[in-house]
Parts: sequence; structure tokens; C-alpha cells
Amino acid sequence: MLSNEVAALLRKRRYSPGKRKPKFFKKIVKLKSKRRNKKAMVVVNEDKEEEEEEEEEEGVSPLVKKYWFQRYDLFWRYDQGIKMDEEGWFSVTPEQIAVRHALRCGGGVVIDGFAGVGGNAIQFATMCHHVIAIDIDPRKIALAFENAKIYGVEGHIEFIVGDFFQLAPSLKGNVVFLSPPWGGPEYRSKESFTLDLLKPKNGYSLFQVAQSIAPNVIMYLPRNVDLLQVEELSWLSSPPLKVEIEENMLHGRLKSITAYFGDIAFSDISMF
Ligand SMILES: C[S@@+](CC[C@H](N)C(=O)[O-])C[C@H]1O[C@@H](n2cnc3c(N)ncnc32)[C@H](O)[C@@H]1O
Repeated sequence: MLSNEVAALLRKRRYSPGKRKPKFFKKIVKLKSKRRNKKAMVVVNEDKEEEEEEEEEEGVSPLVKKYWFQRYDLFWRYDQGIKMDEEGWFSVTPEQIAVRHALRCGGGVVIDGFAGVGGNAIQFATMCHHVIAIDIDPRKIALAFENAKIYGVEGHIEFIVGDFFQLAPSLKGNVVFLSPPWGGPEYRSKESFTLDLLKPKNGYSLFQVAQSIAPNVIMYLPRNVDLLQVEELSWLSSPPLKVEIEENMLHGRLKSITAYFGDIAFSDISMF
């Protein structure tokens, strides 16, 4: 279900990676020679004016380039028309990790409080959960809806534009998934990422709100997060919740940390 505001955004012409390429790309033109079996590959620069127009229109910056090279890690179906905005590029959960989160949920209603362009919501919906996907940015919800269509799961997701904290009193579910902003790619420069650095509110407030919605909470956090602080979150509940901390590896490198709180901690994914 989409609001008029979101539907209007979808109608506007937006950057569609499947159709147009951002500034940093070079166009690869395949020239077929007259002889059938001879092909020449020529690399030419995009027309400059077109680039400038695209950059202005689409808000694509060189920052995105690095993430574009990881596009299939982010969405396996990227080439089928996945859509992103700049923040989406560096904030989406890589698909393998999102699949893992979804496997751990078990079932029921999953509330994705910071849905972004849909990386997690899509995988939750793929595993047959009913998903409530919330984001404060209407453009993100519009992109998440489009991306969910690529995976054929848009019908399993309720898309809501709104502030997670304001909506919280009206929400109930089995699992709350929290993937809040980490403050941009600069999070990496911190030796230890403390929970007060999470946006738009610190990790403690966030966790307490989530607990009022569901008995199970999943938090997706930077790889340099202060693990002691994460464990301490479980003590905000009485009796303290079970907590499991998982290291998320991608191509043999530590990418992020996921904390599972409640009965889903140490749950056996083979049972789902
Ligand atoms: C790290 S991204 C989420 C990425 C998402 N897990 C994915 O895989 O696509 C965080 C998102 O939180 C949204 N956000 C920030 N403040 C919010 C709020 N108060 N309520 C709901 N969403 C918010 C941002 O617009 C952003 O899209």
C-alpha cells in the first residue's frame, strides 16, 4: 500500500541503473564489423553535457562509484532494475547478510524500523514473513517498493513513510529489526563506535523503544561497535534478555555486527 506522496515520487523520472548510467561510467560500445565473427570493443566517454545533466538530476556523486562495484553483493538482481539513491548505496545491507537476518526471524510480523531502499525488508518478505517497512524518507520508501517488485515480494510488505519513534506506540510484532543510520561512511574512522553515535537517537533509546513493540530485537551495527555496550543493552530488560552477537563476514572480511536479543538469540536456523 502506497501513499499518494510516494506514488507521485515513483511517477517522476528517476535514476534507474538498468537504463541510464551515472557520471563515472564509460560507455562501452560494441561495434560489429561487416564480417560477422569480428567484433571490436571501443570505450568512449559519455557526452559531457549529458553527464552534467544526469549528475544534477540524479544526485550521483563519485562516492557511489566504490559501492557500484559491489552492486551484486548488495542486490543479486541488480541488473533487473534495482534503484538506489546516494544514501541507499552506502547504507543498504548486503544481500547475503540480509538473507541471514531473515533466516533468523522464524516467522510472524517483522517490523523494519529503518527500511531504506529495502535490502532487509525484501529478504524478510522473501522468507514469507509479513513485513512492516518504515522509513522517514518518502523517496526511500518509493525505491524500496520498486525494488521489492523486482523480487516479487511487494505484496508481503506494508510500506510506511514515517518516523519510527512516533509510530512505535501503534506498532506490534514478533521481531523489530533496527538498521539505523551509522552517520555515513565516516563511522569507519572511529576506533570504537559507541552506541551514542547511532542516528537519529542513541542505541539505548532505540533499543528501549523496540522492546516496547516486540519480544525479539535485531540490531545491525558497524563492525567497530563497542561490543560491551551492545551486551549491556540486554540488561535494560528485566529479566535480562538473551543476547547473541554475530560477526558478519563478506568475502572473508568482517563487514558488520548483528546483535540478536530475546528468544531468537542462539535460535537454530535449521528449524525454519
Ligand atoms: C542504514 S539505512 C537502512 C538500510 C536498510 N536496512 C537497507 O538494507 O536498505 C537507515 C535508514 O533510516 C532512515 N531513517 C532515519 N531516521 C529515521 C526515523 N526517525 N524513522 C524512520 N526511518 C529513519 C533513513 O532515511 C535511512 O533510509
